[in-house]
Amino acid sequence: MEPLPNIQEIITKAKQQARRETDSEPEPSLTGEFEWPAPCEVKPGLDGAIACTTKIGYVNGSKGWLIYCGIDIFDLCENSSFEETAYLLLFGNLPTRSEFDAFESKLRTYRSVPSEIIDQIKNLRSYQPHPMASLQTAVSMLGDMDPTADDPSVEAETEVAIKLTAQMTTLVGAIARIRAGAEPLAPDPDLPLGADLVRMMTGKTPSPEDARVMDIALILHADHGMNASTFTTMVINSSLSDMYSSVAGGIGSLKGPLHGGANEAVLEDLREIGAPDKVDEWYEEARKTKRKVMGFGHRVYKAYDPRARILEPMADLLSNRSPENRQLYETAVVLEKKVVEELGATKSIFPNVDFYSGIVYDAMGIESAMFTPIFAASRIAGWTARTLEYLKDNRIFRPRAIYVGPLHVDHEPIEERG
Ligand code: SDX
Repeated sequence: MEPLPNIQEIITKAKQQARRETDSEPEPSLTGEFEWPAPCEVKPGLDGAIACTTKIGYVNGSKGWLIYCGIDIFDLCENSSFEETAYLLLFGNLPTRSEFDAFESKLRTYRSVPSEIIDQIKNLRSYQPHPMASLQTAVSMLGDMDPTADDPSVEAETEVAIKLTAQMTTLVGAIARIRAGAEPLAPDPDLPLGADLVRMMTGKTPSPEDARVMDIALILHADHGMNASTFTTMVINSSLSDMYSSVAGGIGSLKGPLHGGANEAVLEDLREIGAPDKVDEWYEEARKTKRKVMGFGHRVYKAYDPRARILEPMADLLSNRSPENRQLYETAVVLEKKVVEELGATKSIFPNVDFYSGIVYDAMGIESAMFTPIFAASRIAGWTARTLEYLKDNRIFRPRAIYVGPLHVDHEPIEERG
């Protein structure tokens, strides 16, 4: 992927700002040598619980760091591609030229999906399913049609991971086109996954700028520690179920507005606000009704989400294309300032990855219902990488619950129950 000077400059500036603002923070936690049992306090939502060790990715919430296999996300956005990042997450190191060429040619051969699945998405169109529900159905059908699906070996599951990394963009593109009443487009293996994703969704080959921005967005969304959808995928696979069933579960979790569905909800909020000078009034109402502001807050980040630091200037760059999109961006900037003023210091609430991503995709002509499927087309890399890492030393996930109900209750015959 050719680096574009203006985009490289955006990322370099974002990196310098992040480094300036966080170097004084305490040293990273949750790294280094480890002995079970884990000393941790567990609160609702497994807050603080440690599920496993990993070498795949590290999120430092106080410094606002995101690292994939040791490499900082800013450096990956400056120098890598989604395909190379997917390889890094799956195999733990950057590929040599020959390794990358072999991986990329596999991704090319795996991109198409069976016509039965396209037909099934078409058949259900009249029910207007949420695109994430369509994606979940499609991934389950891929499993139905793959004779290797139930081979629990790491080799077989790794091959499925590569297949799904290639096919998710084709599925997302087909779902978008069928929703728009258009014929799905076959994948173009000569285009990188990000560029082809935009083409298959919009019907138009993206500009080099849009192709590079989508590639960066896919890098940014690829992995993020033990988030709900990744943990879901791992829990399902830990019973030695198959990768397709595990990923279908991850899609179900990512769909939720508290997780990946937030990027769609952000656009709804921004449209509801309507203009930058309406933010204060809207925010006061939201505060009164204790409404969470979508795209803000995070279980781990108590500083700026580094992904938002890159997506915000990308949204600024792309949003000059239409007054509507520019209005969304300018409203978002005022809302960010307001929320950070009100909740930044007191509750460590800052923009997360979902706050600006939707403005970027909207500027590319993508409908907001498709924003979360784009997230899934990237997170397939993290879902499968972490599932495979855990599979190598698998133990079924089985936490406990504290029973707070009554004990020793007699069974009363129904006639005596009043
Ligand atoms: C993603 O985990 C990951 O890594 C996820 C993700 C990934 O890459 O996989 O980063 C992707 O899911 C990003 C998050 C997208 N979701 C949203 O933007 C939805 C809005 N955010 C919130 O729902 C919330 O911040 C969560 C779900 C993200 C985090 O929830 P927590 O850690 O359970 O926090 P909480 O709900 O317990 O809130 C703690 C306090 C509460 O106030 P008090 O009750 O203590 O007074 O912070 C407040 C909350 O009311 N708060 C917010 C807020 N988020 C938290 N207040 C207003 N607006 C918000 N967005």
